[in-house]
Amino acid sequence: MQQKRLLVTSALPYANGAIHFGHLAGAYLPADMYVRYQRLKGTDVLFIGGSDEHGVSILISAQKEGVTPKDIIDRYHELNKSAFERVGISFDNYSRTSLPIHHETAQEWFTAFRDQNLLTRSSEQQLYDPEAKMFLPDRFVVGTCPHCGYDRAYGDQCENCSKYYDQTELINPRSLLSDADPIVREAEHWHFPLGAFQEKLEAYVASHEKDWKENVLQQVRSWLKAGLSDRPISRDLTWGVKVPGEDDGKVLYVWFEAVLGYISSTKEWAEKSGTPERWREYWCREDTKYVAFIGKDNIVFHCLMFPAMLMARDGYVLPDNVPANEFLNLEGKKFSKSQGWSIELQDFLDTYPADPLRYTLAMNMPETRDSDFYWKDFQARNNNELADILGNFVNRTAHFVDKHFDNAVPEAGAPDTVDEAFLASFATTAETVASNYERYRFRDAVVNTMNLARAANKYFNDREPWKTVKSDRAVCATTLNCSLQAIYALSVFIEPVLPFTAQKLRDFLRLPGDAPLRWDGPAEYRLPSGHRLGEKALLFEKIDDKTVEAETAKLGGIGAHEEGAQRSHPPLKPQITIEDFMRIDLRTGTIREAENVPKSNKLIRIIVDIGSEQRQIVAGIAMQYKPEDLIGKQIIIVANLKPATLFGIESQGMLLAGSTEDEGPVILTPLSVLSDGAQVK
Ligand code: 2FM
Ligand code: ZN
Repeated sequence: MQQKRLLVTSALPYANGAIHFGHLAGAYLPADMYVRYQRLKGTDVLFIGGSDEHGVSILISAQKEGVTPKDIIDRYHELNKSAFERVGISFDNYSRTSLPIHHETAQEWFTAFRDQNLLTRSSEQQLYDPEAKMFLPDRFVVGTCPHCGYDRAYGDQCENCSKYYDQTELINPRSLLSDADPIVREAEHWHFPLGAFQEKLEAYVASHEKDWKENVLQQVRSWLKAGLSDRPISRDLTWGVKVPGEDDGKVLYVWFEAVLGYISSTKEWAEKSGTPERWREYWCREDTKYVAFIGKDNIVFHCLMFPAMLMARDGYVLPDNVPANEFLNLEGKKFSKSQGWSIELQDFLDTYPADPLRYTLAMNMPETRDSDFYWKDFQARNNNELADILGNFVNRTAHFVDKHFDNAVPEAGAPDTVDEAFLASFATTAETVASNYERYRFRDAVVNTMNLARAANKYFNDREPWKTVKSDRAVCATTLNCSLQAIYALSVFIEPVLPFTAQKLRDFLRLPGDAPLRWDGPAEYRLPSGHRLGEKALLFEKIDDKTVEAETAKLGGIGAHEEGAQRSHPPLKPQITIEDFMRIDLRTGTIREAENVPKSNKLIRIIVDIGSEQRQIVAGIAMQYKPEDLIGKQIIIVANLKPATLFGIESQGMLLAGSTEDEGPVILTPLSVLSDGAQVK
């Protein structure tokens, strides 16, 4: 089936907090880049988003602040909507799940399932908080894991041993809402038969073995392997979408209705556009391709639960891809608003333009593993890449044309082979970058885009127009003509990642009406000679060291930093000589395998590749890290430590990690990847 149109959704963020860089890099920037690229390709594409305005966390935020849930969602919906606009996330519609159109849609889906006799209503035991007077959602109860004994396990899954269980199996459960001891109560709930879709889902996932990302496939396979079971889709709460036909106090489980928010947002878009039925073109036609962008914590809902719901309705498109990203951290630590370890988008955009941020996040996108935002890296990307390469090339060209050719496109003489190769490279860039976007490889797409700016800078340097302007004006004119054609090409190719800069380039070029704003434009179209240009604009301002130092120092100011200052560390050890130190053989190595050591809460067994050989190491890091998150990470090990046996397993070395009484251990990794086996001194 020939694809006719494209539907793209980004996870609907909860409207009880401001989105930060992590969210942006996970599910919004890649979606926006993909959509902008597709629009340039001429694809009929619809980009759908909105706020997720139900769920217990919103209720709790409201309770904490002593305001209504509506106060919370109104505040954060507006805040996030405007943050997305300012950073250039070009949704065609940004809706809210509190709107009547969403409530009606979600209720219609529930009713359809119930009328199909698909749902069952059965009673189950659940933990109830007698003080907060509510049933406890899984993430609001902790206790001791029934499998490994970890004492801070959540109600659904243990962070230590990764096992799933029922919340009533927790030993010594405690409510995180009131600290009360919960009691077990019976509650009747509606259930969706996810288990009945096991085979269909297996076939669906198998049909995407080749095109889905490995991180997504791994998670989905492990759920399928464990076997799917029926899922409750109602909750005893007052905030949410009311379950049709039930007394007040029962709402649809937030995940059941949130995914339907994509459909109701599309319906809202169709209504606003005066074509109320057009939503069906995107959701109910086989010739639509649907791509759902999310963060890794949303995988199961988008790859299993939502597809099962769509299958159960018949006639709906299933996600063709769910290119979930891993997490972005901040300067080596998880984003944490409460500890002040966060940068809110709105605050950032009050000081810095959007494009350098988009570029930095794209170049560090957590596509296959967690990654970090570092202020220093942001500075380097802005100064050394955007300003010094792209900005410099455009600036030099504009300045030169203004000074020597009356700010109009100079007449091109006969191009020589260098000019020709340069012009021909636009088509190659178009192809390479496109193939990366088509395969959801955003970092590579941007690297290849910037390579054209690099090549353009080099072309300008090598052609030395400041010399030819005196020695051979016709050659000089050709050089500047080709350079201006390159600016046009760049204005197209950078659009997905640097849309505001692309607009500035187009304003400078004063693109003629017939100039195609299309992906294949640069391969075909040339700015005509004599075309008068606009004013050149400053593209990128450099960021100085002081600014970066001040921004870095702000991090953690509300908690982590002050706490750190008061912390007492063990006294320093006596001095050693350089010879003493050189006896320790430190090497880089990449973790190839990792698994929890059975019967131990603390230990993980890893296999580390140090180039010349593989080492088995047993490390006390299980409280801080999940084995699957370690694979692929490069670490530093003590390679000449005498082997020791822990829990019956030989440990052939030691990994480097830092810790204090109440932090860590935190594994130390090289700032950028070295080859395995490199000596660390
Ligand atoms: O993780 C979250 O922020 C959820 N609100 C995402 C929901 S995505 C979809 F289901 F709407
Ligand atoms: Zn456990």
